[in-house]
Amino acid sequence: MAQRESWATRTGFILAAVGSAVGLGNIWRFPYQVGEYGGAAFLVVYLLLIAFVGFPVMLVEFSIGRYTERNPVGALKQIGKGISSKIGWVFVVAGFVILSYYSVVAGWILQYIVIGLQGNYAASGAATQFGATTGGLPSVLTHAIFMAAVIGIVALGIQDGIELSVKLMVPAIIALLVGLAVYAGTLSGAGDAYAYYLSPDLGAIASNWTEILPAAAAQAFFTLSLGMGVMITYASYLGEDRNLAKDGAIIVGLDTLIAFIAGLVAFPVLFTANLTETTDGPGFIFVSLSEAFSSIPFGGILGAVFFATVAIAALSSAISIMEVVVSYLIDEHGIARVPAVTALGIAIFLVGVPVAYDQSGSLVWLTVYDGLANQILLILGGLLLAIFVGWVQTDLGLEELSKGFRNLGSWGMVWIWTLRIPVIVLLLVVLWYNASNVYESLVGIFG
Ligand code: PHE
Repeated sequence: MAQRESWATRTGFILAAVGSAVGLGNIWRFPYQVGEYGGAAFLVVYLLLIAFVGFPVMLVEFSIGRYTERNPVGALKQIGKGISSKIGWVFVVAGFVILSYYSVVAGWILQYIVIGLQGNYAASGAATQFGATTGGLPSVLTHAIFMAAVIGIVALGIQDGIELSVKLMVPAIIALLVGLAVYAGTLSGAGDAYAYYLSPDLGAIASNWTEILPAAAAQAFFTLSLGMGVMITYASYLGEDRNLAKDGAIIVGLDTLIAFIAGLVAFPVLFTANLTETTDGPGFIFVSLSEAFSSIPFGGILGAVFFATVAIAALSSAISIMEVVVSYLIDEHGIARVPAVTALGIAIFLVGVPVAYDQSGSLVWLTVYDGLANQILLILGGLLLAIFVGWVQTDLGLEELSKGFRNLGSWGMVWIWTLRIPVIVLLLVVLWYNASNVYESLVGIFG
C-alpha cells in the first residue's frame, strides 16, 4: 500500500484547519444569528461555548486523529468498542448533507460577485433579486461550478492541493476582511453599529436562554468545523511531536477573531444604509447587505470584494468536508484519490440539487438540510466523541494531549472532567431543544 500522505509543515496544518473553520459559518451565518438572537447577548453565550465546549471537543478530535492516523470511520473502528466503533458513520452522513447545501450557498455567493461587479445590487427589490438567484438552473449551475473547484483542489492531494491552496487563501481572507472592516469603520453609521454589536443586554440572555443557547451551540460547532470528523481527518496527517492544545488554541482564536471582524464589516454597512430592520435568516447577507451596498459609496465594488472574500472562505472550508469522505474511501477501500474525489463530488452535487433547484421561494430544502446537519448531526457527533474520550478511551486521549507538553500537570484531568459532565450535559440539552425545533419546522413545512 502507498505511504499515507501528511502535511509538509506545521503551518500547513494550522492554516488548513483555520481554512476549514473560517467559512460561510463566520460570514454568512454568524451575523444573521447575532441579529436574530439579540445582538451582543448572543455573542456572549457563543464565546463561552467556543471556549468551554468547542475547544475541548476540538482536542478530542485532534487526539483521535493523530493517534489512529486514519479517516474518521476507520479511526473509530480501530479504537472503538461495540457501538462506539460505528460513530464515524455519523460524520460521513453529515459530510454529504453539509457539503451539498454549503456548495449551493457558495454558488449564490459567486452570483453576487458578478452582480456587484456589474453595479447591480438592487436598491429596492433586493428580496426579489435574491429570489431570482436561488432556485432554478442558474443556481444548479453555480453549485456545479463550486463543486468542480472543490474536486479540483482535493484531487491534487494533501500537500499539493489542500496545503498549497490554504497557504494562499487564508492570508487573503484575513487581509481582505480587515481591509473591509477598516473601510466600514469610516462609514457614517459605524458608531451606532458598534454600540449595537458590542454592548450585551444580559437581561435578554436570561429571558431567552432556551433559544439562545441551542442556537449558539449549533453555531459554535459549525464555525469550528466540529462534530464532523474534519479535525480528526486533518490531525491524522500530523507528525507526532506537536502540542495539540497550542495548535487548537491558535485555530479557535483565529476563527473567533475572523467571525468578529465579519460583524465589524456587516453592521456598519447596514446601519449606514439605515437598514436596522433586516431580513433575518439565510437571506441576510444577500438581501439586507447587498441592499445596503447599493446605497453606500463604492458599494458595487465593495460588495464584489466582500462576496469574493466569502467565496474564498467557503472554498477553504468545503475542501475540508470533502477530505473527510475522500479519506474514508482511500483508507478503507483502497480507492485512488482522483477517482474517489470525482465520484464523491458528483454524488454530493446530486444530493445538493434539491436545495439548488428549490423554487418554493422560501428555501424549504435549505432549512431542512441546515436543520438536520447543523442542529442535529454536528451536535450528535460532538456528543458521541465527548462521551467516547471522556468515559471510554480516556487514557488514549490523555496520552495524545500530553505529547508536546513538558508537563501537562492536572490540565489533562481538567479537560477530561470538562468533557465528562458539563460538555455532555450541555450537548444533551442542546440536542433536545434543537431536535424539537427541527421537528417543529418540519411540521411547519410539510405537515
Ligand atoms: N466551519 C465551516 C464554516 O464556518 C463549516 C464547516 C462545518 C466545515 C463542518 C466543515 C465541517 O463555514
